[in-house]
Amino acid sequence: MQKNIVQINIVQGNIEYLPDCIEAHKYSELGEIYHHPDEEMAEMLTDGFYKGEIYVALDEDGNCLGFIWIALYGAFYGFPYCRILAVKKRYRGKGVGTALLNHYEKMGFARAGRLFILVSDFNERARKLYERLGFVQVGTIPDLFKKGIKEFVMVRYRPEEESGS
Ligand SMILES: CC(C)(COP(=O)(O)OP(=O)(O)OC[C@H]1O[C@@H](n2cnc3c(N)ncnc32)[C@H](O)[C@@H]1OP(=O)(O)O)[C@@H](O)C(=O)NCCC(=O)NCCS
Repeated sequence: MQKNIVQINIVQGNIEYLPDCIEAHKYSELGEIYHHPDEEMAEMLTDGFYKGEIYVALDEDGNCLGFIWIALYGAFYGFPYCRILAVKKRYRGKGVGTALLNHYEKMGFARAGRLFILVSDFNERARKLYERLGFVQVGTIPDLFKKGIKEFVMVRYRPEEESGS
């Protein structure tokens, strides 16, 4: 039987976590629709680890539950952009994604007043989660990664600026 997660620690990732990150991304609608072969994903993620942009969520025993790729200058060369967020299938719905996004907020808002993330039109659950955490849709890009699929551009404004003050 699967254990409950009692603690989630977010730490900077390294190449040791590559197989966990590939797994988290692969077994999802996102992974299926955008399908990157493991070698391609490995090459992309290795670059992220090398740049120090990937953070992993670990449980109290050090097991990797999921990861987030935060490019601090990734949007419009001045704003943080979350490149990938994925949690292993068996650990979804337990707050791991929220913990990783909270880490994104903490790191991102230390750098800039707006955080960016894209979400595909089919990914209703991820979109709901981002909205719950305060992201709002500010745009739509059709056919960005794949013909026939729209990406919604979502932004989170630094809380003290939300009211326009
Ligand atoms: C999107 C994704 C990262 C979310 O991660 P997650 O760990 O499942 O997220 P959370 O558990 O924090 O929140 C998801 C839901 O579970 C609920 N939840 C949070 N903690 C919970 C708990 N302890 N018990 C049960 N449900 C819980 C949340 O309320 C949330 O509900 P909502 O989606 O209706 O708002 C994950 O589903 C995933 O990896 N999907 C595949 C890859 C993907 O689509 N990535 C996003 C690309 S844009």
